[in-house]
Amino acid sequence: MSEPRKILVTSALPYANGSIHLGHMLEYIQTDMWVRFQKHRGNQCIYVCADDAHGSAIMLRAEKEGITPEQLIANVQAEHSADFADFLVDFDNFHSTHAEENRELSSQIYLKLRDAGHIATRSITQYFDPEKKMFLADRFIKGTCPKCGTEDQYGDNCEKCGATYAPTDLKDPKSAISGATPVLKDSQHFFFKLPDFQQMLQTWTRSGTLQDAVANKIAEWLDAGLQQWDISRDAPYFGFEIPDEPGKYFYVWLDAPIGYMASFKNLCNRTPELDFDAFWGKDSTAELYHFIGKDIVNFHALFWPAMLEGAGYRKPTGINVHGYLTVNGQKMSKSRGTFIKARTYLDHLSPEYLRYYYAAKLGRGVDDLDLNLEDFVQKVNSDLVGKVVNIASRCAGFINKGNAGVMVDTNAAPELTDAFLAAAPGIADAYEARDFARAMREIMGLADRANAWIADKAPWSLNKQEGKQDEVQAICATGVNLFRQLVIFLKPVLPLLAADAEAFLNVAPLTWNDHATLLANHQLNEFKPLMTRIDPVKVQAMTDASKEDLTASQTDTGAAAPAGNGELAKDPLSPEIEFDTFAAVDLRVALIVKAEHVEGADKLLRLTLDIGDETRNVFSGIKSAYPDPSKLDGRLTMMIANLKPRKMKFGISEGMVMAAGPGGEEIYLLSPDSGAKPGQRIK
Ligand code: MSP
Ligand code: ZN
Repeated sequence: MSEPRKILVTSALPYANGSIHLGHMLEYIQTDMWVRFQKHRGNQCIYVCADDAHGSAIMLRAEKEGITPEQLIANVQAEHSADFADFLVDFDNFHSTHAEENRELSSQIYLKLRDAGHIATRSITQYFDPEKKMFLADRFIKGTCPKCGTEDQYGDNCEKCGATYAPTDLKDPKSAISGATPVLKDSQHFFFKLPDFQQMLQTWTRSGTLQDAVANKIAEWLDAGLQQWDISRDAPYFGFEIPDEPGKYFYVWLDAPIGYMASFKNLCNRTPELDFDAFWGKDSTAELYHFIGKDIVNFHALFWPAMLEGAGYRKPTGINVHGYLTVNGQKMSKSRGTFIKARTYLDHLSPEYLRYYYAAKLGRGVDDLDLNLEDFVQKVNSDLVGKVVNIASRCAGFINKGNAGVMVDTNAAPELTDAFLAAAPGIADAYEARDFARAMREIMGLADRANAWIADKAPWSLNKQEGKQDEVQAICATGVNLFRQLVIFLKPVLPLLAADAEAFLNVAPLTWNDHATLLANHQLNEFKPLMTRIDPVKVQAMTDASKEDLTASQTDTGAAAPAGNGELAKDPLSPEIEFDTFAAVDLRVALIVKAEHVEGADKLLRLTLDIGDETRNVFSGIKSAYPDPSKLDGRLTMMIANLKPRKMKFGISEGMVMAAGPGGEEIYLLSPDSGAKPGQRIK
């Protein structure tokens, strides 16, 4: 046996301002399967992650919820950790970027870069919100498109005509945070001199560290020439202050990848046998892999290796990039119920179904992966229940009844057990190369052969014949051995199934090398069903619940879905609408003439609204925030006036009022500035 390898593995750090969904899970599940495979093989493999807790989006969201950013990130970390654990994603450490280890490492790396001459400073001019007293990222500026004149477009691109521009090109710019007209203001910024690393990156990105498609993309950027990277943000910002520069903060993407190191450092601090430098030092012989999605390649394959090089650390061995998840062939969609949160899935289905499905479809490329829900049900049921588990359930009963649960010492199919043995290196190679789909294909090919052999031998018929008992026992013992080999091959993907199988087989936790041995004269435990078929009704219930997540956040309070991280390009997952769709909504200023309790309803208030030329009756789920409805009398708010009237238990609701907030006591009815008149249209 060769020396065990030392491997450190990371998944991208999820933003601490939103829930984990099945798109994220594609990354964490695939990383976990690879890590489990390495551990299974006897390598030292350590898997660390953390929440990505910094940035203005998190600061603003905490402010909106009326809590501190620290509270927000603690709540989210608890939620994320539970989601990952329940999907059997087994981190050795799940930390936070808002942690002392990260503050120290970020400062130290910055100072090394600065002292080596890799940091530049210059003044830049940016829009500033005079009310909020903060500089505005492009996402936080809205105005009229300079090309086509469409109103209410973001500061970097127009959703109507697709034009991209600088925020200063927008006509009639407004702060999306306060509504104030932003002013131009200068400020000193800090830049990382990426061009200093052009040569190194040219070599490093072509040295087997990247998949070909990724290396080609990066080559385009390198050919175009690298730019300095702006790594500072002005206060107020939720992050780390830059050493010696009061009021200046590290941009979230500066300290986020350092969070990989910090999480590992945190683990080292409580694990004496782990040595930080052995993994991160310049001369480290350990392997280092980052698993990421295709949207964050520039940060990991350009900025990050350059930072590491400039600060005297080792660079990654590989960046493993995957594509995006689609559901039923389309972008995940809230209205179709295919924007599925990790927790919503777990409420209805077992995590191993999804782990297997992802494994069965994941190759080593960067293509998007489609979760087709019909195919999902069909494939999991046919492969896992119909092929793998079936072998054990066909054989276990005869051993139990005919031989008191003891497997006899006869191999009835040496050519098959040999074929399983011979297939092992190929399966291991496929796992190693992250070609999970090939590994699953080969394993299911073996399962097919085992099933065909058992069907051919038909122990259930033999068992009825006089004098065939020994043969039946030999066939079934062999069948259980084949099942055991399959479980060993599948264990990185299906750790729970493997644990249940180990209990049935009455063996210590299986490792990869166990596939080369067979059980003989061995006492089994009672066989319990190892996996049940997916009931399509549950899949439907899951998509229905995902639609409800949406209605809960929109109709109860009228609030829009939570905003994504405003620092990034717009959330690729929030469904886009055409301008005409938006323009079709009749938004009006409404005067609440009367607000009252509704007999028998615990969430609703009945609102009588004056919208200028008519009076409307609207039921609104805001009672939890306004226990004394009379306080709303006489107040102005906003309503959607052309919503199709809805018949409710208590009467007809003729529209919807608009409010923000997470729900419960925190529902904030929107109101216009003073001076607005009932009935005025909102544009
Ligand atoms: N916080 C950054 C990463 C910092 S790493 C130093 C971030 N966070 S994220 O929450 O938006 O995404 C986390 C990971 O999930 C990323 O690798 C991203 O590509 C991946 N995915 C997010 N949505 C996804 C899909 N719909 N499909 C597949 N992967 C997706 O980016
Ligand atoms: Zn436009």
